[in-house]
Amino acid sequence: MRKPIIAGNWKMNNTIAEAEKLVKELKPLVKDAECDVVLCVPYTAIAAVAKLTKKSNIAVGAENVAWADKGAFTGEISAAMLKEVGATYAIIGHSERRQMFGETDETVNKRTIQALKYGLKPIVCVGETLEEREGGKTEEVVKRQTEGAFANVTATEMAQVVIAYEPVWAIGTGKTATDEQANETIAYIRSVLASLYGEETAQGVRIQYGGSMNPGNCKSLMAQPDIDGGLIGGASLKAADFNKVVHYNA
Ligand code: 13P
Repeated sequence: MRKPIIAGNWKMNNTIAEAEKLVKELKPLVKDAECDVVLCVPYTAIAAVAKLTKKSNIAVGAENVAWADKGAFTGEISAAMLKEVGATYAIIGHSERRQMFGETDETVNKRTIQALKYGLKPIVCVGETLEEREGGKTEEVVKRQTEGAFANVTATEMAQVVIAYEPVWAIGTGKTATDEQANETIAYIRSVLASLYGEETAQGVRIQYGGSMNPGNCKSLMAQPDIDGGLIGGASLKAADFNKVVHYNA
């Protein structure tokens, strides 16, 4: 059985003061959650959020991680630095980074390997654009991204990995994939994992849906057999909304 995992991706939102306010509100609300709860927050807020959530059921993540240990990589933040401030997860290969900051399947792979090397759990994002979906290329794209992301990652390491299927056309647009569309593509991603690692490993990997997931649509998305969680953007910025997604069955 895969334990569901609901993660917030704050993106470039919340100063430290704003982050503290939100986390103080959220902590008592989600304390009895049955799923894993993660907040992926801007680098500058990680230490403060980690401190506030220390003895709680909320884990903290970064929104990216460097692919090298240390050195001349201006503007990058290493896995060791993230661990030091209390992060245990890192989002890798979000479509915003692929589209605006030159992230490729190869850099996603390098960052994933680096996260695993330092014991950070990667949340690896894959997903097609509207043009790719309309061109019938969804499976081809998520297969390429999945195989690319996990090149040289072992089956044992895959137990630490979370995948987020985020159709680019559903992110921040209010357009959600239908429950069946999301489940179908996630099941396909699992079949790609099965061909890489075998059925047992594939069945163990948690795959989230992301893209306009909110209090109104989370229950039916989460009821799908292959959807193991959500990566939540906009709805993670309000404690009440994020709490409702965490309690998706209520
Ligand atoms: P929204 O929930 O705002 O659509 O963002 C989804 C996302 O990109 C999470 O990583």
